[in-house]
Amino acid sequence: MKSAIEDNASTALGEQTIPKRFISVLAHEIRNPLTNINLSLHILKSGISDDRLIPFLNIIDRSSERIDGLLKNLLNFRDTDEPTEQYNAVYKLLDEALALTADRILLKQIKVNKNYDKQRCAIILNRSQMCLAITNIIINAIDAMPTDNGKLSLLTKTIDEGYIIQIEDNGCGISKDDLKNIFSPFFTKRPGGLGLGLAVAYDILISNHVKVKVESELLKGTRFILLFKKPFFIVPEIAD
Ligand SMILES: Nc1ncnc2c1ncn2[C@@H]1O[C@H](COP(=O)(O)OP(=O)(O)OP(=O)(O)O)[C@@H](O)[C@H]1O
Ligand SMILES: [Mg+2]
Repeated sequence: MKSAIEDNASTALGEQTIPKRFISVLAHEIRNPLTNINLSLHILKSGISDDRLIPFLNIIDRSSERIDGLLKNLLNFRDTDEPTEQYNAVYKLLDEALALTADRILLKQIKVNKNYDKQRCAIILNRSQMCLAITNIIINAIDAMPTDNGKLSLLTKTIDEGYIIQIEDNGCGISKDDLKNIFSPFFTKRPGGLGLGLAVAYDILISNHVKVKVESELLKGTRFILLFKKPFFIVPEIAD
């Protein structure tokens, strides 16, 4: 892959950050229609008996539950900037994010390839925030991939500087010019996109001391590399 943003793309983001008050208002407003969806879903569930339709109702149910969880995260976001948690086994974070995107992966028939270094370690981070950031990166990867032969590769490994997570897709790729802007709020090339997913992810990564590097090639795919650096990454003396 030729084009790349070195280190954590802070130049790409510049001074632009999303006002936290805006995030809170947005999150709050989304909850109103979500409540309507949940109430309607409840009625539909009691009235639909066709077995072929039940899995789709369950997908709506899980998805709206997920939206509710995300909104709670966003509403707490302003108060939880500081990473406080000691978290073992980073690959579990990836699996958590994967579980949250499982329906989308299934609907698009994407193959997932995992290559985890399962070394136990302690990382100081805010786990729910980090899970949100990784989920946003994975969702973009899913969106960028074709329906028939999408391949999502997840890798974790220990390196001298710390620990890395790699999320790679074989989707449409990002042009060199666009790559400079992907972390900017409201930058989007996706029909219906808000351009907020990566801006939120970037804020979270920075506040958790995680460096991000993006490599991409048009029509080939994209790779996000997250680096958990020492001293925030600590390998304990005893690993099981
Ligand atoms: N894996 C990827 N492959 C191709 N393009 C990507 C990928 N990840 C991000 N992009 C590009 O970066 C843009 C910004 O991503 P971002 O997640 O911030 O916004 P979005 O997905 O368009 O909207 P949303 O706010 O709903 O997430 C996308 O519109 C897309 O053009
Ligand atoms: Mg997105």
